[in-house]
Amino acid sequence: MKKSTNVFVCSECGYESAKWNGICPSCGQGNTMVEEIREPVSKKSGSKVRFSPSDVSQICVNSIDINEEVRYHTGFNELDRVFGGGIVKGSLSLLGGTPGIGKSTLLLQICKFLDKNLKILYVSGEESKRQIKMRASRLGVENENLYVMTETNLNKIAAEIEFTNPDIVIIDSVQTMNNPESSSFPGSVSQVKECTNTFLKLAKSLDITILLIGHVNKDGAIAGPKVLEHMVDAVLYFEGDAQTSYRILRAVKNRHGSTNEIGVFRMDSVGLQEVENPSMMLLAGKPQNASGICVACVMEGSRPILTEVQSLVTATSFGNPRRMATGFDYNRMALILAVLEKRAGYFFSAMDAYINVVGGLKLEEPAADLSVAIALVSALKDIAIDDRIIAFGEVGLAGEIRAVSNCELRITEAERLGFEKCIIPHYNFVTLKNPEKKYKIEIIGAKTIRQAVAEALNQ
Ligand SMILES: Nc1ncnc2c1ncn2[C@@H]1O[C@H](COP(=O)(O)OP(=O)(O)O)[C@@H](O)[C@H]1O
Ligand SMILES: [Mg+2]
Ligand SMILES: [Zn+2]
Repeated sequence: MKKSTNVFVCSECGYESAKWNGICPSCGQGNTMVEEIREPVSKKSGSKVRFSPSDVSQICVNSIDINEEVRYHTGFNELDRVFGGGIVKGSLSLLGGTPGIGKSTLLLQICKFLDKNLKILYVSGEESKRQIKMRASRLGVENENLYVMTETNLNKIAAEIEFTNPDIVIIDSVQTMNNPESSSFPGSVSQVKECTNTFLKLAKSLDITILLIGHVNKDGAIAGPKVLEHMVDAVLYFEGDAQTSYRILRAVKNRHGSTNEIGVFRMDSVGLQEVENPSMMLLAGKPQNASGICVACVMEGSRPILTEVQSLVTATSFGNPRRMATGFDYNRMALILAVLEKRAGYFFSAMDAYINVVGGLKLEEPAADLSVAIALVSALKDIAIDDRIIAFGEVGLAGEIRAVSNCELRITEAERLGFEKCIIPHYNFVTLKNPEKKYKIEIIGAKTIRQAVAEALNQ
């Protein structure tokens, strides 16, 4: 008889190795390798399977009906959009996020709005029936067709699903589910993979929609959702701080839609509320006449979103000047500082410089460069930028302002929110047709960073 073997598995990415590593050689995360015991697979059970030609089914591509796809609407436009227009029937999706972010809340809340004819099974391995009922009452969820089950045994859950045949199954969370016949402990990489595999088979064979909740963890004690991203149809992550009330839902994978869309939510005592006007929310509370502030416009999927970039520049007290960026790439900030010094004559070498993007948004798009540059100079010179100015554009190393995509969408959004002056790249400006007639907002095309900054500071 063969002995069981020990392997070390990374709980973040699933990398396997015979020996333990402090840092995972595959994904580079620290302290994520955990030991797992593998039972030997007997030779007999792996005997060859013969298929007859009738098992294989093929169909001409022309005769595939694409209108077949059924989507369920969740009652949240924000969530439907991230899914690509509703949750696809028969799909397996993963909702990931740190504990306390609102995953259970969101999926329980959708039970309130989903079509009442759909039979929903909510399986919880984390909370008691009483706790779920209390939460449901708080969220105002009443649904004759919502069934609750508290169970962690994968086989029992699978049997229950096959027997009752619900339309939608919610698993909270995939890391608490386990197959007791398998030797590894719940939450380990192999258990989480096995559970996901079972749910995948159930979803596809019975054509039911399964939503998995997955915890993101930092210390590697349980397997992260990364290890099962490749198995599911869609992966959504809930981002934001459990402390602040705003949450951003982002798709990182979607076989049935685009991955650029985000959904914005606000958590309050009656659950998550959608924020249909994120720019307004992000700009609320913007200080008036303070230096170091410039409004940026970034595209999140097909939506332009305005947000406030704040900067603080102070004299360095000793040694190397400090640079810090929250919500913006640190290296990109260093690059913008270098361009401002070399091409526009603003010196930051004896100054500490900080950048903060308000509201927890991450500005990954180069179009945010210009607002960051303007905020930095405004902070350095201690000159406030007019509240009604917005700027966007990519900053090049020669100090030029480069064109960005979706220029007109951004201008329209700025105008809608009451801005009066918009500094944009010159090359975008020349492509606008009759801007004076089309927009009330004043539009200025800037060729260089020096010109853009002077325009913003009104110098
Ligand atoms: N009784 C309550 N009143 C108001 N808000 C609550 C209450 N209970 C929980 N919350 C909010 O719900 C959040 C927990 O959401 P939950 O859906 O359980 O998170 P997750 O499932 O992602 O771990 C808490 O951070 C808190 O903001
Ligand atoms: Mg939960
Ligand atoms: Zn790894």
